[in-house]
Amino acid sequence: MSVIQKNWTKSSWKNFTALQQPNWPDPQAVERVLANLSSLPPLVFAGEIRSLKQLLAKAVTGDAFLLQGGDCSENFSQVTAPNIRETLKVLLQMAVVLTYAGGKPVIKMGRIAGQFAKPRSADLETVDGLELPSYRGDMVNKSEFTLEARTPNPKYMLKGYNMAASTLNLLRAFTRGGYGSLQRVQAWNQEFVAQSPMGRSYDRMAKQISQAIRFMETIGISAETPQINQTQLFTSHEALLLQYEEALTRVDSITGDWYDCSAHMLWIGERTRQVDGAHVEFLRGVHNPIGVKIGPSYKIDDIKRLIAILNPDNEPGRLTLITRFGLKKIEKALSPLLREAKKEGYNIVWSCDPMHANTYTAKSGHKTRNFNDILSEITCFFETHWSEGTVPGGVHFEMTGNNVTECTGGAHNILDEELASNYLTSCDPRLNAEQSLEVAFQIADMIRS
Ligand code: PEP
Ligand code: CO
Repeated sequence: MSVIQKNWTKSSWKNFTALQQPNWPDPQAVERVLANLSSLPPLVFAGEIRSLKQLLAKAVTGDAFLLQGGDCSENFSQVTAPNIRETLKVLLQMAVVLTYAGGKPVIKMGRIAGQFAKPRSADLETVDGLELPSYRGDMVNKSEFTLEARTPNPKYMLKGYNMAASTLNLLRAFTRGGYGSLQRVQAWNQEFVAQSPMGRSYDRMAKQISQAIRFMETIGISAETPQINQTQLFTSHEALLLQYEEALTRVDSITGDWYDCSAHMLWIGERTRQVDGAHVEFLRGVHNPIGVKIGPSYKIDDIKRLIAILNPDNEPGRLTLITRFGLKKIEKALSPLLREAKKEGYNIVWSCDPMHANTYTAKSGHKTRNFNDILSEITCFFETHWSEGTVPGGVHFEMTGNNVTECTGGAHNILDEELASNYLTSCDPRLNAEQSLEVAFQIADMIRS
């Protein structure tokens, strides 16, 4: 038995405090759903999870780069072929740009096929004197403000599993079936460059990528080779609902190790990463790559204890620390963390989430984020790593392939007063397709120079 599994079972988290769990009204109904989920097939295969870990190990040393992105919160009603296709399309477009500029493989990972549960700042929400349970994501309850909608219903966990399965099925079909071929993705990028008001500044790089592809064709690398014609998208979500995660946790028949087969990678959110909490207990025992979100009020000793618990063998690729400090705090918060980690020799994938600490409420009342703030946090992330001699290993976005107006700024300079025109998120504001691609081209510029 490896050190990681000492005194661990897939249920041992129940002996610890689990924050952010729903108050299910009917415990027996929950048990029935969990029994059902436990007998259903895993969503991903442990072998895929191991390949992901090997790729992430390369991101520790700067030989690969992690691109993770998708909805803040997936909605059952939005699980449609066009939505899945458009999100995939933008992620692939961003990945091609980053691969070319960085000269290293980009690990493509969606916040997709399972991102259905959300942590909330309060258990209850009050509107006009009426107090109801908070909306906790489609896997728990519905967002409408009625008692019926807000009452947690365990059947939604089963529905979440089915939604994840059908999303993943389509993603696998697209990525294996030629939809994501390099030529197609590059053609989309050229379309973007031609249409964007900022197009000219991206034109040069887009042309260079096209030349590189033509060169490969000229020397006989056929468009049908799997490396050109196929791609791989890994799935990830916040491992928040521990009952659901436990039900999808299985022993791999090849290695005998435990894997949480609800997604390839799972992360622990800023609100549930207590060293002695149930989420940390659960995730320490599964062999998946694990992420931990870290906000600006972290305590260095807590982070060191978390690392010791979650990655006792210092295995490269096991642990990704996703810093989300915000534009104003990153400068003070990031350096000390990097210095300590470097001193200790920790193997970590450092990823930047420039979304979660840059949220503000616009005059219109919409929760939003500004494009330039997002970009500035990323810039500061890269520069800090470079000056500390550590490796910026990835980025983490809330984004969508649709033409939403949820974040301000960008080439079309979306203004506060324009947010209402296509504001669709049920949780946090996402970059739209154009803003996402712009970020990718901007990062590309940064990592090339
Ligand atoms: C999220 O990723 O949607 C989220 C809630 O992030 P954090 O835990 O960093 O606040
Ligand atoms: Co969010």
